[in-house]
Amino acid sequence: MKVLVTGATGQLGSALLKQLKNTNYEVTITSRRKPDNLNFDWVYSDFLTGEGLEAAINEMDVIIHTATSPRKDSKIIDVSEFGNFLNMCQHIKHFIYPSIVGIENIPMKYYKHKYQAEELLKNSSVPHTIIRATQFHRFIESLFLSKPFFKKYFVPGNFRFQSVDVVDFANHLIKMIDDGPQGIADDFGGPEILTLREMADLKIKVNNESNNVVSFSFPGKLYKSFLEGKNTNEHKKVGKLTFEEYLRNKGK
Ligand SMILES: NC(=O)c1ccc[n+]([C@@H]2O[C@H](COP(=O)([O-])OP(=O)(O)OC[C@H]3O[C@@H](n4cnc5c(N)ncnc54)[C@H](OP(=O)(O)O)[C@@H]3O)[C@@H](O)[C@H]2O)c1
Repeated sequence: MKVLVTGATGQLGSALLKQLKNTNYEVTITSRRKPDNLNFDWVYSDFLTGEGLEAAINEMDVIIHTATSPRKDSKIIDVSEFGNFLNMCQHIKHFIYPSIVGIENIPMKYYKHKYQAEELLKNSSVPHTIIRATQFHRFIESLFLSKPFFKKYFVPGNFRFQSVDVVDFANHLIKMIDDGPQGIADDFGGPEILTLREMADLKIKVNNESNNVVSFSFPGKLYKSFLEGKNTNEHKKVGKLTFEEYLRNKGK
């Protein structure tokens, strides 16, 4: 079976490539940058312009679409060019689309675009699986930026997260290849729900840091949605590796 992974240089893309090395799928990967230590055929493509996409999907059976651009040009890359890409995918037997838990209830531009992309896929004739995950552990870690002078993490400490290991999620996606198209699959959440303050305290403990946590709040719907844990799903604690285990494994 021929499998294309888009976004091969990204966090999820890289995790997929490591795991796919141990399978018998004929894997091709695509991105703008060429990944290091290339084990698979690589095709250049750009979701901003559409360049290289036809060539990348030629003869493919399955696509795992991890290319995304949360910060820049998301409306084009994650929605309009994504729609054009789907039109090219009429021969694809299974299009696997990773998305994010709770996006319809969290007022962020990127999440709105992800939701629009889900709708495009749902309304297309391409056989697909939409699988939503909670935030990856590394994303949470990236929120803890200490100002060296202050030795403090300034975070909205009451936000709730259920972060998940990207390798756990990658393995789940690979298993889905053979399961075939499921439409909307069950959410893939991390093993525990913690506040951001609790997660910052874990980082301080595990790394023996001298930082303190300073928690702040702000008005509005965005704050409320993370406070209420709209980005979590307590009924789907599927991932195995906890945030603390992730932090401890990093040094090894
Ligand atoms: N991060 C999280 O916490 C999280 C949680 C749940 C679900 N997800 C979902 O998982 C998927 C992967 O997320 P990620 O965190 O792994 O993303 P990421 O690390 O930001 O990687 C994005 C990938 O997209 C590629 N890309 C960006 N712009 C492109 C363009 N114009 N043309 C072609 N490729 C482009 C990048 O490669 P080049 O720059 O080399 O082109 C990179 O490989 C996304 O759908 C995301 O919504 C993420």
